[in-house]
Amino acid sequence: MSNETKTHPSAKAPQKTVLNLGNLPPKLKPSDMKQSASQYPRTPSRVNPNQPPWPAYRGYHEYSFAHATMGVRLPTILGKAIDDVWKTLNQEYDEERIVDLVNCIHRLEDLMGDLQGNSKLRPIIDDGAGDVALWNKEIAKFFRGKDFMNAPWLFAEAYKYRRLRECFSLSKYWVDYDVFFRQKCDTFSRSNQAVFELSQRFAEPHKHEGNISAEAQLEKNKLLFLELTQVCLWGNSTDLSLLIDMTEEDIKKLQSTGGDHLAATEKNILGNDLHKLADYVMTIKNGRIDFVLDNAGFELYCDLVYADWLIQSGTCSQVIFHGKKIPWFVSDVTKKDWDWILNSCVYGQLFQDASDAEVESLRTLGHRWKQYEKEGKWKYEAHPFWCTGYTFWDLHSEAPDLFQHLSESDLVIFKGDLNHRKLTYDCHAPLDTPFNQAIGPLASEAGAPPVASLRTIKSDVVVGIPSGVGEKLDDEEPGWKISGKYAVVLLSQGRKGETPVYNN
Ligand code: F6P
Ligand code: MG
Repeated sequence: MSNETKTHPSAKAPQKTVLNLGNLPPKLKPSDMKQSASQYPRTPSRVNPNQPPWPAYRGYHEYSFAHATMGVRLPTILGKAIDDVWKTLNQEYDEERIVDLVNCIHRLEDLMGDLQGNSKLRPIIDDGAGDVALWNKEIAKFFRGKDFMNAPWLFAEAYKYRRLRECFSLSKYWVDYDVFFRQKCDTFSRSNQAVFELSQRFAEPHKHEGNISAEAQLEKNKLLFLELTQVCLWGNSTDLSLLIDMTEEDIKKLQSTGGDHLAATEKNILGNDLHKLADYVMTIKNGRIDFVLDNAGFELYCDLVYADWLIQSGTCSQVIFHGKKIPWFVSDVTKKDWDWILNSCVYGQLFQDASDAEVESLRTLGHRWKQYEKEGKWKYEAHPFWCTGYTFWDLHSEAPDLFQHLSESDLVIFKGDLNHRKLTYDCHAPLDTPFNQAIGPLASEAGAPPVASLRTIKSDVVVGIPSGVGEKLDDEEPGWKISGKYAVVLLSQGRKGETPVYNN
């Protein structure tokens, strides 16, 4: 078999995963569940990472997406990662570097063994990185003796990505290696249709028209904002961790950005604060908006088109983008992905059949975006807190510097599914829980900024939708919570302007 075709056995979805579930609590009967419902939501003093306000999703909950992810998706993702490293190894010539990389592969195999054997969550080995203390404190305080399947899904999944990092951070030559980089670049270059549709529409600088009234201009801006917000939202439906089995056609359908298409998709926004958000954003002049980014490639490109408009329309004088410090949940943006997309727009030849006009429009955007970066209008930041197992309920207490920084923003836009899970503590809250209640301290602490979540629904937790809607979908469309077909755009006003208070 050639090296090109040899794949790690786990890179294919296993038929059946055999898990060691010996440490699990007994299954609850429906009658027990009713009784326990009165305990929720937990009072804030009883909430901690192992006890969210509502019951956590855990890998052993067979009915949940957590189960499929822990048992099948994560081993598949890890198997593909190992294949990627072999690809790199086969192209290396220096023995010291090869041996160093072989040791990374051994650590990856150990991680695979731990995951498939449902091992206990051990502390992260001190690799000198600044986040080790935060990880190990959380493990020691809340997850001692817990394993991959009985720890809350969110923590167990995040932990797996930190362990993946450890496989490389303990090496000499491969500390910054990103096993997902090839895939991330690849999907962007397969998104040509939607990429050029947007570049050709937005390459020309936005004009304020002198001949229309201020009111008409505002109305125009608002319509454009509504449209771009949807582009930015649906850009999230194509994340790599779910695209494993999608065809090129499927991807194109998801990425279609036409106006009619957007009108039709608005009805799939189940919790819809889009218009409230637009009314609020129209009041911001020369302000600052922050994006807590999700995925690289096409989604990031949509975010940049959106942020470009925020600058050009005079809404913002600065946009701050928050990315990840380490490769995270397959497709999340790192600094390398950020640099890659800006440079590819300007210098790349990614799209084989592109016309000169198409390539030129992309170059124009790329040049303008790099200029924003030079002038400080756009800033890329990567706080280590974003790659911890903590949810954003703990942002104020575990990363007060970051809370302080965000409290100075006029709006913080959280993109995507994982950010939404972290905002809402990834737990079994009722579907109609108001968003500002579901995000806890990030709405209620003094100084909390206005927060918007633009999320296509790809996992179990759903809040902020009118009662009845989810129940109907449960009956009619099982799987609606993981298909990426539905979305929410939710807004919390926060307590901007109040001075944040921190305990020592
Ligand atoms: O692995 C599960 C998960 O976190 C899901 O929540 C989601 O399907 C995916 O990974 C990440 O999605 P996103 O890139 O939108 O955060
Ligand atoms: Mg992601």
